[in-house]
Amino acid sequence: MKFVDLQSQFAAYEPEIRREMEDVLQGGLFIMGPKGSELEKRLADYVGAKHAIGCSSGTDALVLALMAYGVKAGDEIVTTPFTFVATAEAVMLTGAKPVFVDIDPVTYNICTDRIEEAVTRNTRGIIAVGLYGQCPEMEAILSIAREFGLFVIEDGAQSLGAERNGRRSCGWPHVGTTSFFPSKPLGCYGDGGMVFTSDDGVADRVRGLRNHGQWERYRHRAIGINGRLDDLQAAVLLGKFPRFPDEVTARATMGERYSDRLGDVVGVPAVAPGNTHVFAQYTIRTPGRDDLVAHLRENEIPTAVHYPIPLHQQEAFRGLGHGKGDFPESEAAAREVVSLPMSAFLSKADQDEVIRQVRRFFGK
Ligand SMILES: Cc1ncc(COP(=O)(O)O)c(C=O)c1O
Repeated sequence: MKFVDLQSQFAAYEPEIRREMEDVLQGGLFIMGPKGSELEKRLADYVGAKHAIGCSSGTDALVLALMAYGVKAGDEIVTTPFTFVATAEAVMLTGAKPVFVDIDPVTYNICTDRIEEAVTRNTRGIIAVGLYGQCPEMEAILSIAREFGLFVIEDGAQSLGAERNGRRSCGWPHVGTTSFFPSKPLGCYGDGGMVFTSDDGVADRVRGLRNHGQWERYRHRAIGINGRLDDLQAAVLLGKFPRFPDEVTARATMGERYSDRLGDVVGVPAVAPGNTHVFAQYTIRTPGRDDLVAHLRENEIPTAVHYPIPLHQQEAFRGLGHGKGDFPESEAAAREVVSLPMSAFLSKADQDEVIRQVRRFFGK
């Protein structure tokens, strides 16, 4: 059994993916070619943003968004320590300081009520992550941002395809970023990412910054990066995208099925009111997590822990001066969560086997 079944997905979409890739191979334009622009249009429409800008990864999408807002040393960006490292790594790369706020233990997203107390006169923005695949409380977060004059980046690396009160992840005001890492809900066959915004100024800055600070060829108005999405990756995504809405539905159904059958033995994901969930990870919670993981491994069920060490306890962030106990909800989640196999192509039989083995561990 695969944790994420990319081979079955390829087998199902092979003609479309090959056709799109063949166009690129025949056309000979591999960087900043027509497939990238077509994908940007399609995805901007899908999320409901005016602009989409393809990037080399979800990490670079975050870095570029921060650069577009002119974030620099001395600035502070509020985010959570319970996320993939890239969220806070991007902040550190700009020279700014991530200021952590603990998570809401129910959704694992930033605890909105605690954002305000983390804001100082150096705060420039908030990065709110849609962890595991559901949007953070964007309306309330945007209203705090309005009050203090901050920008908001929704790190939608895991939540592309999710909705909140009828609005799609990455389509909120200010900026949304996502990742096309192969195992993400919409994944390419290498690294890729995207910045979404309806702000013309931010979009223009990201476009130049991702291409070495060039808005005109060989005129470098700013220090940028090589942060472009290549056309072969865009082609893979164009081959997959027409079925993405069906995959989102399939993932939601699969997530509900897991929750119905496991809710009496482990903590199952709570979908917040107004939200849909894409289950980029289907993540359960139990105090005996490590023993459960060992039992599943013995029975050939792959699992993954997203994430075993919160960022404030990682060596790379030691300079921030945090220690054990600073963010208790994040630390408890890191001890107790485990993600189960999930993809639109997980068969019912395999899902039943995962469910059977989890229940068996609890003697049910
Ligand atoms: C929440 C989050 N942010 C950022 C990233 C970075 O994306 P990438 O791996 O494409 O750089 C990821 C995924 O890997 C992620 O899960």
